[in-house]
Amino acid sequence: MVAGTRRLAMIVAAALLGLAGLWAVGDRPPRLPADGDHGVEQSELSCLSCHGVSGRAPRPPTHPPRDDCYSCHRDAGGRLHPRRNAPTELPGGWREMRRRDEAR
Ligand code: HEC
Ligand code: HEC
Repeated sequence: MVAGTRRLAMIVAAALLGLAGLWAVGDRPPRLPADGDHGVEQSELSCLSCHGVSGRAPRPPTHPPRDDCYSCHRDAGGRLHPRRNAPTELPGGWREMRRRDEAR
């Protein structure tokens, strides 16, 4: 009985360690840089003017297919600013980016 409990505790500990490892190496959304271009009062369309399909800093093709930036990217201080009913698809956003990448 005591041995069984110990084995269970070890399995739980191993599982927790594994999860912590996944969290550490997995792709997490980077925070917004703390510069004038990254104020959280701007619209997602304004983000896409630089990070959209024809912007000067387009997102990589591996980026998650969503355009509701504030649901994932925290500000430089680590705070999330989610928008109610933010659209997950916008003009110049991920869908157009994917189309362009496929046309290549
Ligand atoms: C005027 C152009 C411009 C606008 C507007 C802009 N960005 Fe950026 N952004 C950049 C550039 C250039 C970089 C890369 C250089 C840097 O890290 O500052 C960048 C970097 C980032 C990064 C990566 C940070 C990192 O550590 O890798 C994220 C995330 C990001 N922007 C999200 C956003 C979001 C969300 C918005 C809207 C709130 C936005 N950006 C608005 C130009 C812009
Ligand atoms: C579902 C969550 C999610 C949403 C919504 C989201 N992102 Fe990201 N973003 C991520 C993750 C995760 C990464 C890191 C993995 C990667 O770079 O592919 C990332 C990376 C980035 C980067 C850095 C790319 C690089 O070259 O390192 C930029 C810039 C960025 N996002 C901008 C945006 C903008 C702008 C929006 C809104 C139009 C947005 N993201 C919406 C999750 C999200």
